[in-house]
Amino acid sequence: MPATVVLGMQWGDEGKGKIVDFLAGDCGYAVRFNGGDNAGHAVKFRGVRVGLRLVPASVFHPRVVKVIGNGVVVNPDTLMCELEEIGAAGLDPGRLVVSHAAHLVMPWHISSDMRSATRTTRRGVGPAYSEKAGRARAIRVGDLFSGTGWRSQIRQSAADSGWPPQRSIDKYLNNIGELEHFLDAFKRRFPGRVGDASAMLNRALDRGERVLLEGAQGAMLDVDHGTYPFVTSSSTTIGGACAGSGISHRRVDRVVGVVKAYATRVGDGPFPTELAGRDGDALRGAGVEFGSAAGILRRCGWLDAVALKHAVMLNGPDELAVTKLDVLAGLPEVKVCTAYRAGRKRHSDYPAALVGVADLEPEYASFDGWPRMCADEWSRAKKACDLPAGMRKFIEFVVRETGIPVRILSHGPCREETCVREP
Ligand code: IMP
Repeated sequence: MPATVVLGMQWGDEGKGKIVDFLAGDCGYAVRFNGGDNAGHAVKFRGVRVGLRLVPASVFHPRVVKVIGNGVVVNPDTLMCELEEIGAAGLDPGRLVVSHAAHLVMPWHISSDMRSATRTTRRGVGPAYSEKAGRARAIRVGDLFSGTGWRSQIRQSAADSGWPPQRSIDKYLNNIGELEHFLDAFKRRFPGRVGDASAMLNRALDRGERVLLEGAQGAMLDVDHGTYPFVTSSSTTIGGACAGSGISHRRVDRVVGVVKAYATRVGDGPFPTELAGRDGDALRGAGVEFGSAAGILRRCGWLDAVALKHAVMLNGPDELAVTKLDVLAGLPEVKVCTAYRAGRKRHSDYPAALVGVADLEPEYASFDGWPRMCADEWSRAKKACDLPAGMRKFIEFVVRETGIPVRILSHGPCREETCVREP
């Protein structure tokens, strides 16, 4: 069986974790392919909520093998803490495999990120990817698990990076001896397997198992195609899924683009549909848009169809999953941005030079709001005609603008709060 890819179509925080949990049931493997612990995926099932940073969001499916792919940068401390939290929540994470080719986030990456002038999540992810691309002193997970050479490798890398700094910002690791001790302990306690994840996934696909690839962040944060330089440091789009897991595009038969019914963004960068003041605060409160990864408030605004069309062009999804429709319930009016105006110029396609355009004025299409729906009403809402008129028109508009069918509607954080639409 082939692979399914789940991708964010906005600036991250679209609700991908919930969609991965929903789709993982018939999969043999779930793979994270990009980013590091800068991402935060929340999943909730039968009253238990877990926040994940590195482990794929299939923790409620113990049979599914969880894979951290080569495209991920791994902070070993975060990974161990996360596994402990999963255990403490009474969950069995099942089998975990980490690609030997995934790179490690080291304390000097975090120190460097802390000092960076760019607003980041401060988790060392950007500096870890820089070192990976630089090749001279990067350390891969496999290095740690093969022989004793890793000690001199770590010492050399630390010395080259000027670590430890005069004043350490790390509460545990203050010198190289402590770091070695910590990594020794990590190796001893690590419950997973480190190996050739790409070969394993390809063998699983050959056997007819379905593989689910889970992206972190979203298309507008892609290092190449997002709102550079206000982006993350990895490929968040479809190419990154293949590169970051080591499977061919020929293996992929389903790409699910996840789009929130409104837009949010963490950190700096252009956000033309941002709602300032009370409207933005109300949306943030209703959607609980408080960053799980960056720990800061998410900026909130209306759905931006110009940016969404850009994400669709980059990713070619087969279908869209629209999340958080319940958050907009009760509003008198719901808007979607259809174009930007900059002076006398009108942009209905995403302008390459958006970052330089300060005074973009969004043009909006407006829809009647919709009422809150109970579980029974949702369970009957398989067909478009069963949706409230405002929501139906909103969804039809998204389909028309993007040319992509909306197959999944999500109306709450739990798996049960998901509606699969009949064609
Ligand atoms: P970095 O990925 O930590 O380097 O952060 C760079 C930018 O990407 C910052 O503006 C972050 O807020 C944003 N970012 C990184 N990961 C996420 C995420 O999971 N959700 C939303 N924004 C993110």
